[in-house]
Amino acid sequence: MPSHHSLFNNPFEVKDQDVRWVDGLPHSFAYDDRFFQADAVKEIRNVFIEPNDLEKRFSTSSRLTIGELGFGFGLNFFVTAMIWGDMKDASNIDTLDYISIDEALPTKAEILMVIQQFPELQEVGEYFLSQYLPMHNDMHRIHLPKLNIRLTLIQNDAELALKNLLGFSNNLVDAWYLDGFDPSKNQAMWSSVLIQYIGMLSANEATFGTFTSAGFVKRNLQKFGFQVSKMQGFGNKRHKLIGKKRRDHSLFNSIDSVKPSIAIIGSGIAGSSCAFSAANHGMSVDVFEYGSEVACGTSSNPVAAMYPRFSANNSPYAHLIAQSYFYADKLYANFPAQYKRSGLLFSHFNQYQTEWLESMLALKRNDIFQFIDETTMQQKFGLSSRGLKVLQGGYLFPQTLCQSLLDHPSVNVFTDHCFGEVTGKGSNLKLSFSNQPGNLKTYDAVIIASGAGLLPFIPTLKISKGQLAGLTRPQVIAPNLPVNSEGYILPAINGVMWIGSTHDKDFLNLEASKESAQELISRTERNFNLSFGTQDSIMSEARLRVGSKDRLPIAGKLSTSQNIYGLGALGSRGFSLAPLLSEYIVSQISHAPNPISTALALSVNPQRFIS
Ligand SMILES: Cc1cc2nc3c(=O)[nH]c(=O)nc-3n(C[C@H](O)[C@H](O)[C@H](O)COP(=O)(O)OP(=O)(O)OC[C@H]3O[C@@H](n4cnc5c(N)ncnc54)[C@H](O)[C@@H]3O)c2cc1C
Ligand SMILES: C[S@@+](CC[C@H](N)C(=O)[O-])C[C@H]1O[C@@H](n2cnc3c(N)ncnc32)[C@H](O)[C@@H]1O
Repeated sequence: MPSHHSLFNNPFEVKDQDVRWVDGLPHSFAYDDRFFQADAVKEIRNVFIEPNDLEKRFSTSSRLTIGELGFGFGLNFFVTAMIWGDMKDASNIDTLDYISIDEALPTKAEILMVIQQFPELQEVGEYFLSQYLPMHNDMHRIHLPKLNIRLTLIQNDAELALKNLLGFSNNLVDAWYLDGFDPSKNQAMWSSVLIQYIGMLSANEATFGTFTSAGFVKRNLQKFGFQVSKMQGFGNKRHKLIGKKRRDHSLFNSIDSVKPSIAIIGSGIAGSSCAFSAANHGMSVDVFEYGSEVACGTSSNPVAAMYPRFSANNSPYAHLIAQSYFYADKLYANFPAQYKRSGLLFSHFNQYQTEWLESMLALKRNDIFQFIDETTMQQKFGLSSRGLKVLQGGYLFPQTLCQSLLDHPSVNVFTDHCFGEVTGKGSNLKLSFSNQPGNLKTYDAVIIASGAGLLPFIPTLKISKGQLAGLTRPQVIAPNLPVNSEGYILPAINGVMWIGSTHDKDFLNLEASKESAQELISRTERNFNLSFGTQDSIMSEARLRVGSKDRLPIAGKLSTSQNIYGLGALGSRGFSLAPLLSEYIVSQISHAPNPISTALALSVNPQRFIS
């Protein structure tokens, strides 16, 4: 199994900042160095803000990405956010991108302690805390719309984190804060390889500021493309380094680009998540749906659940599953009428699932996993099994959730439009439809999110028929959260309790079949050791399930010569996977940093199936 470039054995491993507090300020045990000094706000202006000429660039640039090595307690970030906050309304930059890397992340309580020492940072600090809840390591996309900031916070070793940004021009940085500990105590933060990556990840004329003036740091920065000046340092430091990357004509300049207009094909969870992300990146969005209402394909099941069957290893798959799950949970929480944050329950473990249960408990993440003994399971849920509750996540109403994601002034939805093909190049992409006159508008990019409609692009997609059965009689159990074993039972909606689901290779007839529903009921009775009794009537719904040969979704460019992207093959986890993968595709189009690592991006790249 390929491993992810990560410091961590699995996405749930925790590494905290290891500090002692001296006069209310943190001091690192491991590196025997302080994080910052008492007049840190002045120092940050002197060492990072001024050398990067940020106040001028906030008012003259149209986009800007800051890259920081050493998030620490977020002080550099809060000072930047405060200065940007005073200027953002007059700026041409819609959203400031800030990428920050650290091997360890602080707790909320620690950040609060730091903010108390710097009252001017209280407002931005508290707003940040309202959005800060790192459930896993590696990459976090944190949206801070009140500040017009998109923060990509990466918990990883700096060298690995930078390596995981290589290969995408939208990941290029315009201004660097190099803020490790003293280089003599923290070699890994200033290694030659790391500075080589900084050079590769710098946009044209990218600038940097750092407190150190160590000779080997200066020489490496020069070697990897920067003009470096040694300047008077702050406070009792004799010198500091500042500099600028020499112009490289082969490089994409992340500063000059316009707001794209995009078309999305399909309005299921893939299409509507893409529309939501794109609108929030400031794009104008047209969504074309074949059906006469939105989300009328697979995303029209009456109810669906998140699926937290995580993997406790260091594979790209494990990281993708964890990152996308928590991202979706946070996003859907904005729509409480459509998303019920009930948590989810696992029960009735077979041998394979018992190993899984043990691997989850071994993570010792009591903030995510709660073991429930048999007596409590019987008393609380009427189930004769041990249980594992996953505290985050829940169930949702697919069609209305998709509709809510599409409800944005920059999103236009066109139903009854059956997409035919895309023609044109560059920002001149045109669409044709088999049942409508051609659309005269041109687009910078097109995202195909049409479920099984992706087959012409990826003929090896795996399609099956999946069926749910709805039980209409009151039952011996009435769970208030989804219960998973082999198959699942969902909370009753309007008096109907849905159980799922079948996997049928024959998908040409999408009629729900009575026999399959009966089989599903019997299987669920066996797996959950229950009897549903005689049913008055059984409701039944069947949909197409689309997956890929390697079981990973597809997200990324479908064409090497046109700006055509694809999102699909979401298998049985569409509602967990779609939001983060949409944000990834949209970030490429809008030239914002990716919210997933290059290793994850490669594992979902559609090109792996296109010859
Ligand atoms: C029985 C069953 C139960 C499931 N339960 C869950 C669950 O509990 N949790 C979970 O996370 N996942 C679940 N899934 C999987 C999940 O439903 C899918 O992964 C997800 O809905 C796929 O979304 P999508 O947007 O890719 O495709 P779709 O929802 O199918 O959306 C594609 C849209 O594109 C439109 N379209 C197609 N061709 C064209 C064209 N040429 N022009 C214009 N529009 C077009 C379609 O009309 C459709 O609206 C389940 C799947 C099945 C089958
Ligand atoms: C001086 S502190 C940064 C202070 C921070 N900028 C702030 O505003 O609070 C240096 C940081 O570098 C991090 N660090 C040290 N070695 C690292 C490595 N190899 N990879 C990633 N982070 C590292 C430490 O965890 C620490 O948070």
